[in-house]
Amino acid sequence: MTLLEFKDLRVTYNGSRGRVPAVRGVDLAVEAGRTLGIAGESGCGKSTLAMAVLRLLPKTAEVTGEILLDGEDLLTMGWGRLRAVRWTGASIVFQGAMHSLNAVHRIGRQVAEPILVHEKAVTPGEAAKRAEALLERVGLPPSRMRSYPHELSGGQRQRVMIAMALACDPDLIIADEATTALDVMVQAQVLQLISGLVTERGVGLVMISHDLSVLSSVCDEAAVMYAGKVVEQGPAREVFADARHPYSAALGAAFPVIGDPASRRNPGGLPGDPPDPVRLPDGCSFRPRCAVAVERCGEQVPALLPVPGAAGPARASACFVAQEGEPVAVR
Ligand SMILES: Nc1ncnc2c1ncn2[C@@H]1O[C@H](COP(=O)(O)OP(=O)(O)OP(=O)(O)O)[C@@H](O)[C@H]1O
Ligand SMILES: [Mg+2]
Repeated sequence: MTLLEFKDLRVTYNGSRGRVPAVRGVDLAVEAGRTLGIAGESGCGKSTLAMAVLRLLPKTAEVTGEILLDGEDLLTMGWGRLRAVRWTGASIVFQGAMHSLNAVHRIGRQVAEPILVHEKAVTPGEAAKRAEALLERVGLPPSRMRSYPHELSGGQRQRVMIAMALACDPDLIIADEATTALDVMVQAQVLQLISGLVTERGVGLVMISHDLSVLSSVCDEAAVMYAGKVVEQGPAREVFADARHPYSAALGAAFPVIGDPASRRNPGGLPGDPPDPVRLPDGCSFRPRCAVAVERCGEQVPALLPVPGAAGPARASACFVAQEGEPVAVR
């Protein structure tokens, strides 16, 4: 069952730099009980996409297209319905969410609050018990219920935010770099907790991360974004191990695997910078950095289409070279 679907989503910010097209026509779907990973360099539009889901973008953002949650368009629903959907239908753990805790309230009260707001039958005592259990699930002892945010480390505060996102048993969780600030042991524990919810409770998960090893180990599907568009998508492991877009190939090659010297194929990373969204090049946005570009790449924008010869189903790439069945990785 399709839980979340983006249809031709476009987000343009209007600001001091004029019109900034941050998301430029994204079509993606997440099934219940599945995990979609989103990768891509800083500024490619990942957080914009995530924030659009719960209409958390600033007023300066123009949004078009559809975002369907269980078939209902989140972009056009009334505010009353949207408030009900936030937390119970879908919840987000933001990048740097640890800074958004309320400084003057104890942790226990903050975790219990969404439960009390959204589940009218629950008593304050029951909500406190559930908050305590949630904190335990993210590795925080019950004594932390009485702490104030400033008494916790950044990683501990991020875990409180994760506990809050899980508080009302949402159908969809969006994790935007949610575990990046955590040390590797806690990160593994939290990832295991979230993955457990996906398989046991059929929650849908969108995981945004710079860490490709996290994405390929946790996610079923993956989408790689470049300059506001999805340039490659398919089963996560295949996208990162056998890329069909030169950008995903470079992203994967820039990521060394510990203990595997052969994986250090491109320790210097990808040359050049992502394009300024205000001044995108003609044709394929990746062309100025691409080692396999052909003439056509400077003239036409490649659509995201199925690629020949790929191992799994649903492999798509927005690259003319890959669509011809030619290799895209430069070793
Ligand atoms: N409020 C805003 N006003 C104008 N432009 C914005 C605004 N927020 C983001 N942008 C621009 O939109 C583009 C996408 O930003 P976004 O935060 O979605 O990227 P991201 O992929 O999440 O990056 P990162 O990996 O650094 O978190 C960037 O070019 C950014 O400068
Ligand atoms: Mg971001």
